[in-house]
Amino acid sequence: MASTTPIKPKYITILGSTGTIGQNTLDLISRNREKFSVIAMTGNHNIDLLAKQAIEFNAKFVATAATDQYQNLKNALSGTGIECAAGEEAILEAATRPVDLTMAAIVGVAGLKPTLKALESCKTLALANKECLVSAGQIFMKKARKFGVNLIPVDSEHSAAFQCLNGQDQNTISKLTLTASGGPFRTLTSDQLSTVTRDQALKHPNWEMGAKISIDSATMMNKGLELIEARYLFDLKAEQIDMVIHPQSIIHCLVSFMDGSMIAQLSEPDMRIPIAYSLSWPERMETPIAAVNLADLGQMTFEPGDETRFPCLRLAREVLENDDQSAPVLNAANEIAVDAFLKDRCSFRDIPQLIESVLEKMRPGLSRSANPDLNDILDIDAQTRQISLEYLKQAV
Ligand SMILES: NC(=O)c1ccc[n+]([C@@H]2O[C@H](COP(=O)([O-])OP(=O)(O)OC[C@H]3O[C@@H](n4cnc5c(N)ncnc54)[C@H](OP(=O)(O)O)[C@@H]3O)[C@@H](O)[C@H]2O)c1
Repeated sequence: MASTTPIKPKYITILGSTGTIGQNTLDLISRNREKFSVIAMTGNHNIDLLAKQAIEFNAKFVATAATDQYQNLKNALSGTGIECAAGEEAILEAATRPVDLTMAAIVGVAGLKPTLKALESCKTLALANKECLVSAGQIFMKKARKFGVNLIPVDSEHSAAFQCLNGQDQNTISKLTLTASGGPFRTLTSDQLSTVTRDQALKHPNWEMGAKISIDSATMMNKGLELIEARYLFDLKAEQIDMVIHPQSIIHCLVSFMDGSMIAQLSEPDMRIPIAYSLSWPERMETPIAAVNLADLGQMTFEPGDETRFPCLRLAREVLENDDQSAPVLNAANEIAVDAFLKDRCSFRDIPQLIESVLEKMRPGLSRSANPDLNDILDIDAQTRQISLEYLKQAV
């Protein structure tokens, strides 16, 4: 006889609910209403969508980072009884509400403080925001351990690695290979790359993503950030982390073991698959996406990454190998460069040039402290942004 005991829903907060990851998360929740209860959600400028989501999912608390949007949000929620607030403190307040699971999907270092805060009040953290791990990996992993939080990666490659590593002995791993689609410019020559436009860069061949990560995929900085992310998430040495171009984006990560075996995870390139895994872990839940049909696919191909045409890949690998405090510099300079490119203030080629020049300027002043604190990281981040903006004024 079937049990009549009602399922206790997971209480969930979504930081960055109006973004691509946030919307995909809510899409899955809408298909599994009985399994989740939304406590808080946050956004920035997309107030209409934020209010619509809050009403549809009956959230208890809604926050926008944009203080000038408070009245608009309040008006949109009037008569619903949903509490709302605005500003950085409001986002932290959303992150502080006790929940079973927090989806950390704010883009950029703007997500660092709220995601760190969320570690104090959630049992499981689904981590989409890679920039906070790149900038403050040691601090982040230490705090997750201190509060006993289950950290479930959302990035498709890291979700794949997490699944491949399930039940494996850490000492038996020889290498982790993240796959990369190669982005929209995989086959272009260096000359052709110097004339690409923002709209071309935003059109990813396989994935639908927010603007910043789409540009990161076009420059291949996204893969570079992911190599650094993998080092912290899986506690591996730089030489154990590698990447390979796989244009079909079906295999997301391969783990090689000491006995010569490789384990890989395969799925269609749809972020709802890794998001669903992070929401249902340690179980699995249904998604609307079918498993890959290998006969229809026909073939999968692989090629090495090209660090000459895509210098961001080299810059990130150097940061990974140097193991100094240059990761927050790499991240912040990249955020400024991508923002400038999105606003047509610099060319595609200027992105790696800016990052390399800023890394060179910042490196001599970086300490090799094994235990940086959050203020050290935020100082490096702020200094890097300032130097990057000066570079844009002078050199572009
Ligand atoms: N999209 C993907 O497929 C994918 C895959 C793997 C990893 N990730 C990672 O997941 C994160 C989110 O990516 P996404 O593609 O979903 O980005 P996105 O579509 O640009 O969404 C970003 C979210 O962050 C909010 N936000 C922006 N600036 C903020 C600020 N200063 N303070 C608070 N909130 C702010 C946005 O609010 P408004 O929209 O209201 O302005 C939005 O909710 C990124 O770190 C990305 O690298 C994404």
